[in-house]
Amino acid sequence: MLNVLALVSGGGTNLQAILDAVAQGRIKNVRIAGVISNNPKAYALERAKAAGVPGECISPKNFATRDEFNEKFLEAVLSYKPDLIVLAGFLVVIPPAMISKYRNRIINIHPSLIPSFCGTGYYGLKVHEAALERGVKVVGATVHFVDEGTDTGPIILQKAVEVQLGDTPEILQKRVMEQAEWKILPQAIDLIAQGRVQVINGKTVIDESAGKTDDE
Ligand code: GRF
Repeated sequence: MLNVLALVSGGGTNLQAILDAVAQGRIKNVRIAGVISNNPKAYALERAKAAGVPGECISPKNFATRDEFNEKFLEAVLSYKPDLIVLAGFLVVIPPAMISKYRNRIINIHPSLIPSFCGTGYYGLKVHEAALERGVKVVGATVHFVDEGTDTGPIILQKAVEVQLGDTPEILQKRVMEQAEWKILPQAIDLIAQGRVQVINGKTVIDESAGKTDDE
């Protein structure tokens, strides 16, 4: 059983997709051990509560220095004894000590096809504004392991979504969530829980053989 800790900042629709997938057996061998939010008002905390998952808030705003926050934050994370940490719309920079302690055991969902529209400053609606501004015809989402860079870690899964005439950043954001994020984040967690994701030379290798018959 993989112990999963989710880190959130907002509405928590990605968290909900994970909770639903666990409840419906689309993610196997996983227990959602807890949810930590940096935002006391995050609706994601309500979703955790409704699912009977422990939730808490730890905000950098409540600490005098970032070092102090990072220390308490890491302590809180460790208390859940996670095997995997899932950043489900988490907007706080992960402390370097946490990244090295959990190398290739922290995953993030980013609402673009990395390496497009990613890195510093590309979060939330800004990603979709930039995509529309550039006039790309295909966008999407990426699940990746977290390393010391911003959106630079090994890519696990990506899914493309078409841009449509008349899209606004808000409409596009919603379509990317529905058609890509809510699908590939639970899928990636399941793949990891089944031991099917390896990182070799900075890239992931997904074992596609599991679940297939000899004829395939
Ligand atoms: C998602 O678009 C995610 O990719 C981004 O923030 C949003 C979080 O939404 N980083 P939610 O809190 O899961 O509803």
